[in-house]
Order: sequence, then C-alpha cells, then structure tokens
Amino acid sequence: MKITTYKQIPTKKKAACRLVFVNSKGDVLAGPKKMADDLTPFVENGEFGKSFGTPFYIPSTGTRTLYMNMGEKKATAIQFRRATGKAVKLLKPKNIKTLYIDCQGLDEASVRAIVEGVTLGSYDYLDYKSDKDKAPKSLEEMSLNLKNTGVTIKKVQAWSSISDGVNLARDLMLQPPNDLYPETLAKKAKQLEKEGCFKAQILKQPEIEKENMNALLSVSQGSEKAPRFIIMDYNPKGAKKTFVLVGKAVTFDSGGLSLKPSSAMPEMKGDMGGGATVFGIMASLEKIQCPHRVVGLVPSVENMPSGTATRPSDVVISRAGISIEINNTDAEGRLILADALDYAKNFKPDYVIDYATLTGACLVALGPKICGIMGNHQKLVDAMVKVGYSLDDPFWQLPLEEDYEALLKSDVADVSNIANTRWGGTITAGLFLQRFAKDYKWAHCDIAASILEKPDDFNPKGGSGAGVRTTIEVFDKMS
Ligand code: BES
Ligand code: ZN
Ligand code: ZN
Repeated sequence: MKITTYKQIPTKKKAACRLVFVNSKGDVLAGPKKMADDLTPFVENGEFGKSFGTPFYIPSTGTRTLYMNMGEKKATAIQFRRATGKAVKLLKPKNIKTLYIDCQGLDEASVRAIVEGVTLGSYDYLDYKSDKDKAPKSLEEMSLNLKNTGVTIKKVQAWSSISDGVNLARDLMLQPPNDLYPETLAKKAKQLEKEGCFKAQILKQPEIEKENMNALLSVSQGSEKAPRFIIMDYNPKGAKKTFVLVGKAVTFDSGGLSLKPSSAMPEMKGDMGGGATVFGIMASLEKIQCPHRVVGLVPSVENMPSGTATRPSDVVISRAGISIEINNTDAEGRLILADALDYAKNFKPDYVIDYATLTGACLVALGPKICGIMGNHQKLVDAMVKVGYSLDDPFWQLPLEEDYEALLKSDVADVSNIANTRWGGTITAGLFLQRFAKDYKWAHCDIAASILEKPDDFNPKGGSGAGVRTTIEVFDKMS
C-alpha cells in the first residue's frame, strides 16, 4: 500500500474517503473542528449514537466521509486500531482507493494503531477464489496528516512493513495444506532470501538425520511429505544482540496414530502458526533496518497416521541426548521444538523465543484471543506481556511450576511427551520444552489462539499472525 502525507484533504477526489474520528458529541479528536460540520445535524437529532465503534458514512460524488464514533471517554490507542479496522472493512464494498486520515495532535501509539488498523484490517485471503478479480479492490493509498504527532513518515513505513509481515504470517496460515507443506514452506524462505530479507539454509531429511534430530523425524515419519529444517539468518553489520526465534511448523496436524476427531482437524492447517510468526518477523527485519542479529529456526513436518507412523510408546533419542517416550503422537509440536531448541545453542543467542500452536489447553485457560507465555527469564516475559497488551497482541504469563515436573515422568525413558493428567496441559508442555532450553534466556509462546475461531476488527479467522508486532518491539526493549 502506498503511504503518503498530506496537508489539505481534497474535497473532490474520486474513489477517496476521509476517515474522521469523533467522540459521541461529534467533537473531532484529531484535526480542525470544522471537519465535522456536516455531522453536527445528525448529532443534534440523535441519529449519531453514543457508543464506541458506530460508523456514520456521508456519501458524496467527490471525497466521501466516514465518521467513526470513538465513544464518550478519551479514546485509547487500542480503540483507534479497532475502530480503524472496522472502518476499512466498511469501506471495502465502496471501492475506495485512497483513504485520508487526519492524525494531528495524536500520540505516537495512536498513530501507530491507526496505521495498523488500515494495514491489518484491510487484509483478505482470496488466493483460491476464482472470482477474486471481481472482488472489491483493496485500498491503494493511505494518506496521513502527521502534524504535531512527532511521527515521521519513516516510522509509518516501518509499521506498515511490520504489518506486511503479519499479513505474510496470515497468508501462510490460511494456505491449504495440500499446497503448503514443508518443502513449499522452505521454498518461501528461499524466495525471501532472493528478495534480500536474509540468508536461508534448508536442511533436508539426510541433513536432519545427521543432526540427530530424531524427535523431529519421529513426527514426519508417518507422512508422504518429507520434513524440512528451515534456517533464516538476518545478520546486519555490527549487530547488537542475537535473538533466535523458533517456530513450530506442523503443516497439518492430524494427530498421527493418536488421531484427532474429524471436527478438530480442518483448523489444524494452521498448526504451522508458530513458523508463520517467525516468517512474518524475519520478512520485516531488513525493511526496518533492525540492528540485531535474528535467526529464525522453523522445523517443519506433517503429522500423519500410516504404517510408518510413530506408535504411541515408541522411544526416541532427541538431538540433546534426552530420551523421550512418545505416549501420544498428537503432542508432536514439543517434539520438533525440542530438537530446534537444542539446535538454537549453535548461535550463542542472547535470547531465544519460541512460538507454537502447542496446546488446546491454552485456549481453555486463556480463551480464544490471549496467547500464553512462559520462560526462564522474567525480564523477557515481562517485556512480551507489556508490549503485547499495548499493541493489542496479548500474551499472559503462566507459571513453569516445578512441582509439575513429576507429571512428565516416563517408566522407560528420561521423559514422556505427555503428562499423566489432563490438567495444566499448557504448563506441562512448557516444562517439557524447558528441558531443552536450559542454556540460554528463553521464553515460550503458546499461540494456539492465533488460529482464530472468529474474525475480529483487525484479525481474520484462522490466522492472526500473533506475536509478530510484539516481538519486533521487544527486540529493542531487551537491548
Ligand atoms: N496443534 C495442537 C494444539 C492445538 C489445538 C492448537 C487446538 C490450536 C487449537 C497440538 O499438537 C495438540 O494436539 N496438542 C494436544 C496435546 C495433548 C495430546 C497432550 C492437545 O492440546 O490436545
Ligand atoms: Zn497435535
Ligand atoms: Zn500440533
């Protein structure tokens, strides 16, 4: 999307709309008072309601106006993002090409929220629709008045690039698993390498075997699709810190021989959401000139039942040398992460963060929107929680309760891949991972909620791209 700034909104521009934020009394929140003159009669006759998020559209042959009611109280950045997301959705069928938004006098967080409301709210996944050419054209240009905001166009461009990263993560999550599988996901990394985003190295089955990643291989062995271990390395000159990001990319999770019920299966095309988050972050770094080295590790497999699939009770020796009894083949995410977390040591990281659609229990604990986070370094966890909430990309900490370690006991191996109780499944999964992440500062994000059940104001159903915006912001907080 083209991003420009303006001083004066043209009144006669075709296929253009101005978006004006007002409170429920009709007062303009950013920009000159008289901007809402044509709204006044509707406020006076009560047609313009009182509640947050109600839009009021005034058509015109030239530039149209969409008033967004921000409610009675002072509008927050979170509300600006949601309201803008709502607005761009509303404008979609109207074939608007340019959107003018007056941000005068708003604080940086609110301007960022507005930019993200536009870039994230206008997202659509149409790749497989045969009539996509007939679909309403999405916005081509966002034009902002940034006077008295302290925000530069460069910053706006960076936020927009990060949003493109979120939208890439969404595309990957929504792509059907007959087309997105380990090999094609790896190709995407190679494509991004060609575009200059980072260096990419792909480990195929023989190299994965050489690395002794037997936990990872045990998941893919039931599938016709070969595994890939994707390494993306963004390493700018004079890099400040080294972050390693690890993302679970199970391109389809049938459960394996511990087969899932059929009703739970279709959404499991999104079980590569952790990998998608890592891709989304990695794709943005060069564009925003991130000053840190960031390595993205994406173990990618398909989890299928077959004559060659892992049997519940099989034992594998992971790359770290820890033996794992696989008592449930549906707890596969932690197996591929175990080997990837061990591989992360190679980069001598300052921090490691992993992302995974790891447990249904996380949805039970925190509901359909909030992601779980655990870790061995409180500062890192705190930063993720604080930044995540400020960006409406929420994470909430769960404890890595030592007493629960005993629940992962195996009769024959060092550890079992499932706990011997149904309860606390997100925490026991976190405790399992912790065994492989002992040597560095680490946080684990259970982003099961990124497979959104229902769309919201700026996230599509099935893939939100959780964690992309938060993590990039956290890099600077941790340096
Ligand atoms: N990919 C699933 C977790 C999941 C479920 C994510 C629903 C998003 C929505 C994971 O591989 C899984 O199946 N986990 C099991 C673990 C259990 C067998 C210990 C689960 O959550 O039931
Ligand atoms: Zn599973
Ligand atoms: Zn899974």
